[in-house]
Amino acid sequence: MYYPDDVIEQVRSSNDIVDVVGSYVHLKKQGANYFGLCPFHNEKSPSFSVSPDKQIFYCFGCGAGGNVITFLMKYENYTFQEAMQALADRAGIKLPEADYSEEMKKKEEHRKMLFAVNKETATYYFKLLRSPKGATGLKYLTDRKLTSDTMNMFGLGYADGAGSDLVKHLRAMGFSDDVLLEAGVAAHDERKGLHDKFWNRVMFPIMDVNNRVIGFGGRVMGDGKPKYLNSPETPIFDKGRNLYGLNLAKRSRKDQYILCEGYMDVIAMHQAGFTQAVASLGTSFTSGQAGILKKYVNGVLLSYDSDEAGVKAALRNNGILKEGGIRARVLDLRPYKDPDEFIKNAGAGEFQKRIDNAENSFYYELRMMEKDYNMTDPAGRTDFTREAARRLGTFEDEVERDNYISAVAEKYYINLDSLKKLVGSYTDTGVIKPVKRPMRSDTQGKTNENTATESEFRDQAWLLTWMSADKDVFTQVSRYIKPEDFSEGLPREVAEKFYADPEGNTIASIISLFTEEEEQNRAAKLFNAELVLPDEAQDREKALRDIVYSVKSHASKRITDEAGGGTDAFARMIKSRKELEELAKVRFHVRGTET
Ligand code: CTP
Ligand code: MN
Repeated sequence: MYYPDDVIEQVRSSNDIVDVVGSYVHLKKQGANYFGLCPFHNEKSPSFSVSPDKQIFYCFGCGAGGNVITFLMKYENYTFQEAMQALADRAGIKLPEADYSEEMKKKEEHRKMLFAVNKETATYYFKLLRSPKGATGLKYLTDRKLTSDTMNMFGLGYADGAGSDLVKHLRAMGFSDDVLLEAGVAAHDERKGLHDKFWNRVMFPIMDVNNRVIGFGGRVMGDGKPKYLNSPETPIFDKGRNLYGLNLAKRSRKDQYILCEGYMDVIAMHQAGFTQAVASLGTSFTSGQAGILKKYVNGVLLSYDSDEAGVKAALRNNGILKEGGIRARVLDLRPYKDPDEFIKNAGAGEFQKRIDNAENSFYYELRMMEKDYNMTDPAGRTDFTREAARRLGTFEDEVERDNYISAVAEKYYINLDSLKKLVGSYTDTGVIKPVKRPMRSDTQGKTNENTATESEFRDQAWLLTWMSADKDVFTQVSRYIKPEDFSEGLPREVAEKFYADPEGNTIASIISLFTEEEEQNRAAKLFNAELVLPDEAQDREKALRDIVYSVKSHASKRITDEAGGGTDAFARMIKSRKELEELAKVRFHVRGTET
């Protein structure tokens, strides 16, 4: 943790969650809580709740939850530190120097410097495009039918042919040559020395999701080579983990994004009202990018060039999206080459129609595959059917698989039962391993130290939720269930804090003990289990006893498992078994709804 706990607590408690969330989401009061449409998944009726008492939010639809810090981390895609900074600014609190290690501090300084160079460079190009020197660039972009609003929205600029004007400008601002080189805005050679890397190009600043310039793409205004010149990867520019246009698309609140190949495609689509368009950055689409998309949408429309390379990319990316748990559909842009040309020639209305008629990615795959088989020949058809069956076998979800089997049988006139059998033969023999969904991008690579199984976690969440909602329940239950009865790791840490001070408003501060969004979400989940309680008091009592018993018996089992040897462990085991027996006889007193 880089900030002391009391600072975090001060920042958190100075920002009322209803105010902060309310500035992003339209909230309506309903009983003790506020409700609105969840900004983290697409929904028609509000299941997103904000509790002023607990100072937390929770979505009953998608399970997103946390405190005010978590909200900003999720909504703005901030790190913990960035969210702290934003909230401190909002409340007029001056943050102390974060307690970074020397190395971290240096790294952070370095990143800041790179952001600063890029920002200054983008401003420089931006102004140049709008000055007399930028006339050629402005004409090029205007000829490509971009309005000045659009050019402003994307921060487009111009690099003229002057040689080293930018370098001079940046040096005068105090940036070192090393930084200019590393950021990739300058290059060095024997003859010219340090000079501007981009010249005679219209400039596309590439922004991250928080609108910070992380790199550039520059296009020649004609047929020169290379067509696009891009910034190199730097500590702030990871091409596999950013998407062009995402900073704008995330405001579109669309449930599907359009994924395309080029800068100009994104811009043309946004100008035509399709503000959900994003593109990869001149490199192949990665699973990291799929992970990022998954934070915002469950579905993607692929809008790739209609040439062979575009088809190949679409097929490849279908697989990546599917593994990332994102549904894909494919847009047919023929007879035009790319979205930019399509919209210029056929218009936005026609483009919308293509979106409405986009083809399911699996059918698209099969249709492309047909070309490899002689479909008029029985042998060719058989091979095709086998390959289709093999691919059908990769659907993880049985219902989904069955639906596809029926649809494919009908579409290709294949006998349904034989196709089912064939698919079964692939799934049963294990020839096909079901597609494993990768973990979400933000948890990738981190070890999960949480030892609770999902059902243990659920029971513990029920208990904590109930205890936090009803003081009487806490008083009774805490006699039997101690924090150490919760699973090691996050549940136990959370329980310890809660037991130490079981007031409602401690929950939000418990959550900010965790700096990872995923952990904050899990911590919030522990207090937001969906309790569907019976009305009658006696049924409730039984429900409570069942949960308490279940939590305790899991704890007891853990102790037994750990009791490999040693008298101490053995004694603990006996004790926990005894407690468990006692618990079976306990009667809890809980009020029903009728009282
Ligand atoms: N690209 C690149 N370097 C190149 C060519 C292309 O980085 N030499 C990347 C750019 O991000 C570009 C995308 O690949 O936007 C798609 O390339 P292409 O289809 O060739 O260009 P368009 O997007 O159609 O660009 P334009 O309309 O300006 O010709
Ligand atoms: Mn194009």
